[in-house]
Amino acid sequence: MTLPLAELHLHLEGSLEPEMLFALAQRNKVAIPFASVEDVRAAYRFSNLQDFLDIYYQGANVLLAEEDFHDLTAAYMDRAAADGVTHVEVFFDPQTHTDRGVSFDTVIKGVLGGLETGKARHGISSGLILCLLRHLDEDAGLKTLKQAEPWFDRLLGIGLDSSEVGHPPSKFARAFALAGEAGLKRVAHAGEEGPPEYVWEALDILKVDRIDHGNRALEDPRLVDRLREEQMTLTVCPLSNLSLCVVKSLDNHPLQRMLKLGLRATINSDDPAYFGGYVGANIAALALTGDEKKTLARNSFLGSFLPEAEKQKRLAALDA
Ligand code: HPA
Ligand code: ZN
Repeated sequence: MTLPLAELHLHLEGSLEPEMLFALAQRNKVAIPFASVEDVRAAYRFSNLQDFLDIYYQGANVLLAEEDFHDLTAAYMDRAAADGVTHVEVFFDPQTHTDRGVSFDTVIKGVLGGLETGKARHGISSGLILCLLRHLDEDAGLKTLKQAEPWFDRLLGIGLDSSEVGHPPSKFARAFALAGEAGLKRVAHAGEEGPPEYVWEALDILKVDRIDHGNRALEDPRLVDRLREEQMTLTVCPLSNLSLCVVKSLDNHPLQRMLKLGLRATINSDDPAYFGGYVGANIAALALTGDEKKTLARNSFLGSFLPEAEKQKRLAALDA
């Protein structure tokens, strides 16, 4: 039995399957350093986050036209629907594309179109979160926010991703303050590879509404208390953690410990094309009890940015 679920941590660029990578490389006449789909899959062995990011940004080079962003997004929505997902709040990385000469409007029009296709095909509701690349400077992020301004009413929130260590949340204090004033929700990757201090900064300086990953928060008991008291949502990604060597194995993955500690943890796929599967595969990869699965499904809606009444509707449907 698959429970209805919301996916809250998914990078659209990370849902680019090798088959689509090849098809788009051909369609757009972009050279890629792989001879076959098998070749691509063989390259997906990572020893840390940066290893992965290097290949992930390279893969994104095949995305050029609005249609490409549409097709990428629509293909993700098909996969999500197959896993019982009924609501998604997805990330995109505009700077990865604008820095290659693709316009912001091309990217966002394609993505929003793909989300609409997913709604029409599967009835999946959605929100879009613009992620700033933390390895770039804050001024570049502010420039991206300026480009995004005409689209603010179509955006759910702002996020922070890419290379974590050495790029603390505090580096983006002004950008997040601006986004908050504009009414956008705020989320940030923190505590994936970075220390618990980065999670504190995301909470206290960026004033985030959710923490993406948050695994390393478990190293700091005071932080665990804070996250539990606030019922702060953590968007946890087990297969990603395994692929990027954030955990040694999936036995004893922090997600189950988080639930036992009373934290509002959710399960997500992060970059499913690169890490071996979508949210259903993540659920299957952990030895979860029926109660844990139900809690994760509840947490996914509780932690979503759906309007309160809609949230209650989804929770009632889950209980039924
Ligand atoms: N961490 C940081 N940046 C990312 C990730 C991630 O897991 N996926 C895509 N960009
Ligand atoms: Zn992520």
